Amino acid sequence: MKFSTAALVVAASAVVSGAAIQKRSVVYQVSDFSAACIPHSTQCLYEFGVFQPGTMQTDPIPCQAMVSANIDGTLPDVMYGACEQSSRTFNVVRDAEGLGFLVQAPVSPRSNTTGVYHIPNSDLVMSDRPNAVVQSYAGPKAFDLDFLV
Ligand SMILES: *[C@@H]1O[C@H](CO)[C@@H](O)[C@H](O)[C@H]1NC(C)=O
Repeated sequence: MKFSTAALVVAASAVVSGAAIQKRSVVYQVSDFSAACIPHSTQCLYEFGVFQPGTMQTDPIPCQAMVSANIDGTLPDVMYGACEQSSRTFNVVRDAEGLGFLVQAPVSPRSNTTGVYHIPNSDLVMSDRPNAVVQSYAGPKAFDLDFLV
């Protein structure tokens, strides 16, 4: 049997896209995400709900951290922010492209189920009000965290 080149290309790309779909797996779903430094304050508040699909969980669990602002008013890093009624915690770590965001929960004494998401700088805005230069998040309220392998 002889296959046309076009048919082979279609078959090959189907295999490639199938692999790509399998690779991306959602571990946590975040909703109502907000992050903002409070004008005329030295504090910034991160707040969101986190839901783990495919578990007994029925409602998002609220997570929150109040942290000291960076001197320049930008959103600061968070280490082990707390989530209610669970052992989940979250971290925020700034990099050149924006903020790395991670949610983790222990599955055994030595390992965590960790989900990651990257907030681009384009989703962060600086207020230009006089004497209140503070940063806040202006991106989508809900997004998915990919399983960190
Ligand atoms: C798992 O997460 C906890 C915080 O929830 C942290 O203290 C611990 O170091 C993490 N463990 C691993 C193996 O990443």
